[in-house]
Amino acid sequence: MNKSENITWQNTKISKQDRQSYFGHKSAVLWFTGLSGSGKSTIAVEVEKQLFEHHLNTYVLDGDNIRFGLNSNLGFSAKDREENIRRIGEVSKLFVDAGTLTLTAFISPYRADRDRVRNILGDGEFIEVFVDTPIEVCEKRDVKHLYEKARRGEIKGFTGIDAPYERPQNPEITIDTSTQSLATSAQQIIDYLVEHKYIN
Ligand code: PPS
Repeated sequence: MNKSENITWQNTKISKQDRQSYFGHKSAVLWFTGLSGSGKSTIAVEVEKQLFEHHLNTYVLDGDNIRFGLNSNLGFSAKDREENIRRIGEVSKLFVDAGTLTLTAFISPYRADRDRVRNILGDGEFIEVFVDTPIEVCEKRDVKHLYEKARRGEIKGFTGIDAPYERPQNPEITIDTSTQSLATSAQQIIDYLVEHKYIN
């Protein structure tokens, strides 16, 4: 829905292709999705580090961090999560336009919300990375003690406990951090980028 009238799309003189040629690699979003504590941020941050060390233009957008600023007015109702993902989808699209290999780490529990992001991006620009760590493992880690609070009823609507997580049906990449090391998971993603010619 567009609430504004009298607005016109402004084209710039530098295209996405110009930027990709300048940086020497394609731009896309590696969209990490999975339960709280599944390892989304840990892997995204490691992959970003490795890409940066190879002088690639890369950036991580992380759920917790974005909720401190841009999305500080959103909670965890289904409606707020939808808006959270809609905004991040639009921000990711801008990053891709800027020629950046963007990594996002959001639970993004609803399939329709993730698919909406896929659909606003171009072919091959949305790479869904399903961090398929079993809830038992996430709950055992419980680094932030959030599962503990959710079990005690102190957090309502916690993903995997009393709020849904809809598993991706056809993710480009699937990772299970309970069986894979961080190094292997990061390598799997880098290999995907090389194999599909995003990077050299
Ligand atoms: S979502 O569902 O995509 O909008 O969530 P996201 O923006 O990724 O934020 C998830 C982080 O918020 C913390 N947190 C919760 N997670 C799930 N359910 C509830 N109710 C909740 N309340 C707070 C939690 O630290 C999540 O971080 P990660 O990194 O996923 O563990």
